[in-house]
Amino acid sequence: MENKIKIGLIGLGTVGTGVYKTLQEFDNVEIVQIAVHNKNKKRNIPNLDENIITDNAYEVVNNPEIQIVAELIGGTEPAFDLIKTAIANGKHVVTANKELLAKHGEELFNFAEEHNKVVLYEAAIAGGIPLIMPIKTILAGNKINKIKAILNGTTNYILTKMDVQQASYNDVLVEAQDLGYAETNPTGDVEGFDAAYKITTLATIAFNKRVKLENVYREGITKIRPQDMKAANEMGYKIKLIASAELNKNGEADVRVHPMLVPKTKTLAHIDYVTNAVTLTGHPVGEVTLSGPGAGEFPTASSVVGDILAIVSELGRTDYLLPMMRCRHSENAKMVDISETENKYYLSITANNSMGVIGKIGKACEDNNISLASIVQKEVKDGSADITVITELCKEKDMQKAIEIFNSDNSLMKVNNLIRVQV
Ligand code: HSE
Repeated sequence: MENKIKIGLIGLGTVGTGVYKTLQEFDNVEIVQIAVHNKNKKRNIPNLDENIITDNAYEVVNNPEIQIVAELIGGTEPAFDLIKTAIANGKHVVTANKELLAKHGEELFNFAEEHNKVVLYEAAIAGGIPLIMPIKTILAGNKINKIKAILNGTTNYILTKMDVQQASYNDVLVEAQDLGYAETNPTGDVEGFDAAYKITTLATIAFNKRVKLENVYREGITKIRPQDMKAANEMGYKIKLIASAELNKNGEADVRVHPMLVPKTKTLAHIDYVTNAVTLTGHPVGEVTLSGPGAGEFPTASSVVGDILAIVSELGRTDYLLPMMRCRHSENAKMVDISETENKYYLSITANNSMGVIGKIGKACEDNNISLASIVQKEVKDGSADITVITELCKEKDMQKAIEIFNSDNSLMKVNNLIRVQV
């Protein structure tokens, strides 16, 4: 076929390899150059033409033949400069880079708009799940005011394994690392950074206002214990790392990532192992849940290739491609600080077997406007008791004051964990 659209890839790791293989099945596109970190690395890619490989990514973004660049290396630099150079050179861009979008999305989209180029990024949020295009096109008639999502497969895998095996976080992490599900340095996943990047961009698109990463509250999963899993199960919940974004009645955005007790009646409670899922609530659609593979060679390639083909289908037919897919937020979201939010809480306390402990817990809660939904102490063993409390909705700042009171009496009691509960 004449006039194939010329594609340049930056990165030939897991995602790049999936994109390369998938694009071989389309005869209207041709990969003409690929930038890699190490040219000598052995790659299991049939029929890969070594002549199109370079270890200088600037050759790709400066290549006049290339019309679309797919950036698949991640991180902020050199990815940001490479993308800007590609745009300045007249190329459209597809990226899977959630960190770059969360940290520099505004600058990047403004730059693309000034040059009348599009940047598509379906693969950056929840890998293979179609989210960005549905939100920007078929859901465009909605006011979306709530997102609850599982956006990180590594942590969902660890929490699922902890649940089914009654195993500790550390044991499951080591197993997940051995199997290649968790990175050697797992911080980005287990401390919630990866999910925070994703929810920042997702909330920006869904609310049509720019959400700033620095205002997104973040907590990871490292403090979750098998005892918490067991207690949650007994009370009808599963513990999940939830990325959440909500607009309150004043139109302020509450965006965060932290573990939550999710009622077993909710779909997200049943999303296990590396699967991701996103529940969007909006008017007029109501509640929609999309779930599927959030990472991996071919699921992520599916989104990258879909974006490439969307651009290909309009190239040469219009001077202003894909208007509905562009990001032009003029307004920053007003953000709510976590201390001002209202939540329901699960609290695990280990107390000495001494009279009046439950009374003290009740009093500290009462003094801080916290009403208890349930308090359970099953038995006293070896002079101490495990107490599990579920509160009604109360202010975060009031809960933190109560925790200070509990912790001030550490000869009497110890707070093991405080986890928010989805209502
Ligand atoms: N590390 C991510 C996860 C995938 O575990 O879901 C890429 O964003």
